[in-house]
Amino acid sequence: MKKVKKAIIPAAGYGTRFLPATKALPKEMLPIINKPTIQYIVEEAVAAGIEDIIIITGKPKRAIEDHFDKNYELEAELEQKGKLDLLEKVRQASNLANIYYVRQKEMAGLGDAILTAKSFIGDEAFAVLLGDDIVVNDGLTATKQLIEQHEKTGTSIVGVQRVADDATHRYGIIDPAGGRDRLYEVNSFVEKPAAGTAPSNLAILGRYLLTPGIFKHLEKRQVGAGGEIQLTDAIQMLNKEEKVFAYDFEGRRYDVGETDGFVKTTIDFALQSELKDDLVLYLREKLAELEK
Ligand code: UTP
Repeated sequence: MKKVKKAIIPAAGYGTRFLPATKALPKEMLPIINKPTIQYIVEEAVAAGIEDIIIITGKPKRAIEDHFDKNYELEAELEQKGKLDLLEKVRQASNLANIYYVRQKEMAGLGDAILTAKSFIGDEAFAVLLGDDIVVNDGLTATKQLIEQHEKTGTSIVGVQRVADDATHRYGIIDPAGGRDRLYEVNSFVEKPAAGTAPSNLAILGRYLLTPGIFKHLEKRQVGAGGEIQLTDAIQMLNKEEKVFAYDFEGRRYDVGETDGFVKTTIDFALQSELKDDLVLYLREKLAELEK
């Protein structure tokens, strides 16, 4: 079986939940501490052995391109001032992988965004990573776990984890047909089921390993939930002709796609960094004030 080398990172959405910050900046560029979300995502792909990444961009795309490009002026300045730690951090972002860009012409949904990368992908299996979820674990990255399952089954694999029952209407949800060792056969995939109708609480959380068979279903441009062309609907069609499995991946998942999750993720990451001691003192003070 061919090694999985390519990944798509869609970053063309309007990011309405973060307006006005996302008026001129993709939400994938919002930082958790000092690193843009999309860099965590690129690093996950690279750690899984991905070599070529295509980022799907929308209108405000320059910031993403500039971030992963070289910045000679800034590097020269940091070098001259002897700020070698910072220089290393700046260089790291431009040395991660081969990164390509394609623009989604119209924000017609995640399915349409993936279709935009069809000719880049060609005839091989590929990974998809969304910037809404950062997954942290000590072992294999979420993408690597999906690649390993794909190497066993030869099929598409969708990454899932359990979410709260009252949150299922926000996700693509699977109806599992049974399975073991975290790998499920799937009866059906449903995008954003109405509250109370979800077939399970196993939600698709922004990580996919797909075979190129997905493209002919995306080309049908079927409009689904929210009036958008949904990737989940194309996966549902694919599952009828070649099996698609769901894998309950290991790792702590951080929801950074909405403001509440974004703030909590920032606090969690800060508590695991060198900011910890100061932040603990500060939070204690704040809590004491609130309790007065
Ligand atoms: P989301 O629905 O979370 O992103 O899409 P959004 O639409 O930008 O967010 P809100 O709801 O308005 O706040 C999941 C992923 O798919 C990409 C987004 O950039 C995000 O990474 N996406 C979505 C596209 O690339 N194109 C689209 O047309 C829609």
